[in-house]
Amino acid sequence: MGYKIRCVRKSDLPAIVQIETLSHPRPWTLEDFEWEFKNAGSKLHFWVVTKLKDDLPLAYLCFNFVIDEIYIRNLTVGPSERRKGIGKKLLDLCCLWGKRKGAVRIVLDVRVGNYSAISFYRKCGFHLIKGCLNRTSRLMEKAL
Ligand SMILES: CC(C)(COP(=O)(O)OP(=O)(O)OC[C@H]1O[C@@H](n2cnc3c(N)ncnc32)[C@H](O)[C@@H]1OP(=O)(O)O)[C@@H](O)C(=O)NCCC(=O)NCCS
Repeated sequence: MGYKIRCVRKSDLPAIVQIETLSHPRPWTLEDFEWEFKNAGSKLHFWVVTKLKDDLPLAYLCFNFVIDEIYIRNLTVGPSERRKGIGKKLLDLCCLWGKRKGAVRIVLDVRVGNYSAISFYRKCGFHLIKGCLNRTSRLMEKAL
């Protein structure tokens, strides 16, 4: 099946919220996504992966780019589409995009018990930064 990556549209949000709800213990709500659109301005970059045949979102990546650093806010692949290389492709593309724009590192935080995401990010070249961000999250980074 063919996929494409494009910038998000407001009309994608209901499908994105559905994926988000199935994927996270504390999912972003529709209001959270709308707030990001309204308030994050040009710092926010929001890409979706859609199926070529219907253009419906099946994964998304939301990140901020400030000065020379990328901060991943949300990376989610719909449950039925996991382990097909989509998450890695999105993240690799983000690294390439950031490098071209002058970013020197990419950072994210991950829930302490989210072992599958930690394995995934390790596979994508990230490492854990020593010390906890807080009781529930750890920071990971990758130099670009
Ligand atoms: C984490 C997530 C984004 C990975 O996306 P994905 O498209 O399934 O990942 P990929 O298929 O690109 O995986 C690439 C590699 O990462 C590793 N990996 C991915 N999922 C993994 C898992 N559940 N357990 C262990 N390793 C995993 C594997 O090495 C995999 O390569 P392989 O399939 O050849 O073994 C996806 O599982 C997800 O959306 N999870 C729920 C939301 C979430 O936790 N997001 C991250 C929040 S910080």
